[in-house]
Amino acid sequence: MDDRIITGEVTEEDGFEENIRPSRITEYIGQTEVKENLDIFMKAAKMRGETLDHVLFYGPPGLGKTTLSYIIANEMQVGIKTANGPSIEKSGDLAAILSSLEEGDILFIDEIHRIPRYIEEILYPAMEDFRLEIMVGSDATSRHIAIDLPHFTLVGATTRAGDLSSPLRDRFGITSKLQYYTKEELTQIVLRTSKVLNCPIEKEAAIELAGRSRGTPRIANRLFKRVRDYALVLGNGTIDLKITKVALERLKVDALGLDDTDYHLLRAIIERFNGGPVGIEAIASSIGEEQTTIEDVYEPYLLQIGLLKRTSRGRVVTEKAYEHLKIPYKEK
Ligand code: ADE
Repeated sequence: MDDRIITGEVTEEDGFEENIRPSRITEYIGQTEVKENLDIFMKAAKMRGETLDHVLFYGPPGLGKTTLSYIIANEMQVGIKTANGPSIEKSGDLAAILSSLEEGDILFIDEIHRIPRYIEEILYPAMEDFRLEIMVGSDATSRHIAIDLPHFTLVGATTRAGDLSSPLRDRFGITSKLQYYTKEELTQIVLRTSKVLNCPIEKEAAIELAGRSRGTPRIANRLFKRVRDYALVLGNGTIDLKITKVALERLKVDALGLDDTDYHLLRAIIERFNGGPVGIEAIASSIGEEQTTIEDVYEPYLLQIGLLKRTSRGRVVTEKAYEHLKIPYKEK
C-alpha cells in the first residue's frame, strides 16, 4: 500500500476531499488576491450575461485549483465537466469532451500541460471562436469540418505554467498563480474541516497540524483524517495537542512537515554529491523517484522554506538543511 501523505494526486477513492471542499467563494480560505479578483470577474460576467473568460490556475499540487474550479461553476450557476491532460490521448478524446458541453459550462482540464501538442491545437479555435475544427476521413477522402460549440469557460490547471505552449497560454483571459498558504490560513482550514466533519480539535492541535502541512490544504486535510483515527483509538475522539504530536511522529511527518522522501532527497545530495550543486536527473536516479515528482511535489516546498537552493549549476542543500538534519556543515 502506498500510504504517502505528500503526493501530487488529486483523487481519493472515498471522496473525502470532495465532501469537505468549500462550495462558495466566501467560504474559501486564503489565496486572497486570486479570490478577490475572481469574485470581481465572475460578478462582471454575470452582470453582462456572458460566460467567464477562460482561466488558468498554476502552482504546486494541493493548493486549491480543483476546488476553485468547482466554486466558479457553483457561483456562476453552470455545469462543470472535468478532464485530465494525460487521459486525452487522441484528438477524438478532446473532440468528444468539447462536443458534450452545454451552454455556459465550465470545462476543467487538470494537468493541461500534459495534452500532446497536436491535440492541444484543437483547443485554440474552441477557446477563441467556440468552434470544433477536426479532420475526418483519411488520405484522399479526408476533409476538415467545423462544428459550432456552445459558449463555455475553460479552466486549466497546471503545476508547470512554463510547460504550456505560448499559443495556449495566450488564450486564457485570466491567469492566477496559487501560493503556499500561511500557517494561520491552514489553521483556519483545519478548524473548518473539524466543523464540517463534526470532529473536535483543540486550537493548539490545529496550529500544530497546520505548521506541519507544508503550506498545502490537501496535506492538512489528509493529516487531519489520520490524526482523527489516533484520537478515536488512543484518546476520546477529541484531537488534542498530545495526540497530534504522537500521530505526526508515527506518520513520520517532522516539525517542518518533511517526510521520508524529503529526508532521502536532502541526505542523498549531502552524502553522495557533497551537498551539491547537482543536476535534477542525478538526484532522481540516486533516490529512485521520477524527476517530475521531485520538481512538482517535493522541491517547491524545500525551496520555499530555504532548505534547498537552485543555482545555474544545479541544486544545492543549504546550511539550514544541514542544521535541520543535524549533519555538521562544512564551509565550501
Ligand atoms: N479545504 C481545502 N482547501 C480549502 C480552502 N482554501 N478554504 C477552505 N477550505 C478548504
